[in-house]
Amino acid sequence: MQSLSGGELTKLFLAVGLARSPDLLFLDEPTNHLDYPALEALRQVLCQFQGAFVTVSHKPFFLDQVAQTTWELSATNLQVYGGNFSYYREQKQLEEAAKERAHETARKELKRTKATILNEQKRAAQSRRSGRQKALNGDMPRIVAGGFKRRAEAVAGQLKIKHEKAMAVATQNVADTKVRTHKAASIQLEEHGKKHRQLIEINHANLWVADRLLLKDIELCLLSRDRLAVAGINGSGKSCLVKAILGLDTTPAVLQGGEVRCADMRTVYLDQSYALVDRTQTVLQNMQRANPALNYQLLRQQLGHFLFWNDDVYKMASVLSGGELARLAIAMITIAEIDLLILDEPTNNLDVTTVDQMVEAINDYQSALWVISHDLDFLSRINITHSVQLKHQTLQPTLYLPSQMLPYQQCLLEDH
Ligand SMILES: Nc1ncnc2c1ncn2[C@@H]1O[C@H](COP(=O)(O)OP(=O)(O)OP(=O)(O)O)[C@@H](O)[C@H]1O
Ligand SMILES: [Mg+2]
Repeated sequence: MQSLSGGELTKLFLAVGLARSPDLLFLDEPTNHLDYPALEALRQVLCQFQGAFVTVSHKPFFLDQVAQTTWELSATNLQVYGGNFSYYREQKQLEEAAKERAHETARKELKRTKATILNEQKRAAQSRRSGRQKALNGDMPRIVAGGFKRRAEAVAGQLKIKHEKAMAVATQNVADTKVRTHKAASIQLEEHGKKHRQLIEINHANLWVADRLLLKDIELCLLSRDRLAVAGINGSGKSCLVKAILGLDTTPAVLQGGEVRCADMRTVYLDQSYALVDRTQTVLQNMQRANPALNYQLLRQQLGHFLFWNDDVYKMASVLSGGELARLAIAMITIAEIDLLILDEPTNNLDVTTVDQMVEAINDYQSALWVISHDLDFLSRINITHSVQLKHQTLQPTLYLPSQMLPYQQCLLEDH
């Protein structure tokens, strides 16, 4: 089991679950690690499934294909939307726009209330002044002047109460209609030197894992500005190739024969299981270990950007949810200076908003990028300049780049 690739493990769990012919199926992030043929198979299984199913997923592309109803779970309630993810997104946008309009109206009303109060106060002061003036000029008998004064005071008191009430209602309306903005992680990637140079060159090498030949006659060249996408079905050797290039001693994967040249470079590898996060340490300890030069305040600040606040930072990494683990792993790598950033299925477990932030950060980042992902939504948005696939034990360029989503997906689905 331990040697199974990420996708192989997901497929095994799905196969075991479906074999029990359940009436009700709960799927928690079922698309994680799945390759394109497996995603297509899962889509078909779910579309033909006779029972009911509930799937938790952050993948719009997949949800649109399989779901008829969308539930939105927030900190305060669960709201049901009668449609797929795109329908849900449209409805959310309409709701947000209506909320903003209501808030705008409430703010205008508050402004109007303030102006009305000011006018009324001015008029009341004016009339008090003219009453006082008449009394001073002796135009009014003293007894009448006294009555006027008492009445004016009573009216002023009533007016004050009326104004306070109106202000309280208008202010409350503004507060009630305020749109609570959803906090999202902010991601920044630092890049190292800007020089254009060759980082990796492989000529005619073979990739082996534990006596098994995974890839033969590999030819690959990566320059410092390249943004490479690596595709291939589950178990084809995408993760092993990276591990062998980096020479990680935790894997039996090796490159043999031919020539393999790697420049002296700062590489950050975010692997599929977030192995860089030590599960026996807390969030803060992990962050400290990854960035020993940073002081406590900066570490807390960086963790705050990734939504780890207050006592969150003292949580053990072992209790973090999938998304939290991903956020911590990204927090740990993003302040280090990088020549080559390698992301292995980075969007698994990440919610839609965090994926958006990640896309933005990757698009700002200028150094070399190596991305392994089956998430077409994500891949199509990160300006991939080179694309290869692992197929029939060879590494070959794809005909299309992921930005051309459908033909790219089509060519990956062929011949498997
Ligand atoms: N330590 C190991 N010992 C034996 N076999 C291994 C080991 N690690 C990986 N493998 C096997 O090597 C093959 C390639 O694994 P790898 O993790 O590179 O696949 P992958 O292309 O990254 O797949 P996925 O898309 O599922 O992540 C798989 O069949 C896997 O079972
Ligand atoms: Mg892998």
